[in-house]
Amino acid sequence: MVESKKEQSGLRVAIIGASGAIGKEIVDHLKKDSRFSEVILLVRKQLDEWKPDDFIPKLTVILKENFDSFEDVKDHLVGVDAFLCTLGTRVKVGDELFIKVDY
Ligand SMILES: NC(=O)c1ccc[n+]([C@@H]2O[C@H](COP(=O)([O-])OP(=O)(O)OC[C@H]3O[C@@H](n4cnc5c(N)ncnc54)[C@H](OP(=O)(O)O)[C@@H]3O)[C@@H](O)[C@H]2O)c1
Repeated sequence: MVESKKEQSGLRVAIIGASGAIGKEIVDHLKKDSRFSEVILLVRKQLDEWKPDDFIPKLTVILKENFDSFEDVKDHLVGVDAFLCTLGTRVKVGDELFIKVDY
């Protein structure tokens, strides 16, 4: 986990799928938004563009190998004010995975 040391006060938002096209766009907006005190990214990989110093809110990046369960990270998510899901995949990955991720 990568966590910046900024103080917490205000809205907290968590995003699953932040490394995707839509998710990155949302993170770009959130990083400049002083109404939020913490932005929590649940992702499979850290992106170079997520630098804590570029964020007004505290940045917390939680790296997870698979998203079948959130039991291991639930303590970080308790009390978040918003939870955004921008997961997505493509039909070409096959029906089973497409339905699992998108639905
Ligand atoms: N892009 C558009 O213009 C657009 C327009 C309308 C609607 N949408 C919808 O918005 C949603 C997101 O689209 P997008 O274009 O942002 O998709 P994307 O660029 O393909 O991003 C997909 C995201 O989902 C994650 N993901 C995929 N499979 C996963 C898995 N098995 N486990 C954990 N994470 C997984 C990816 O993580 P990794 O980076 O680790 O792979 C990535 O963060 C989709 O439902 C799409 O239909 C998109």
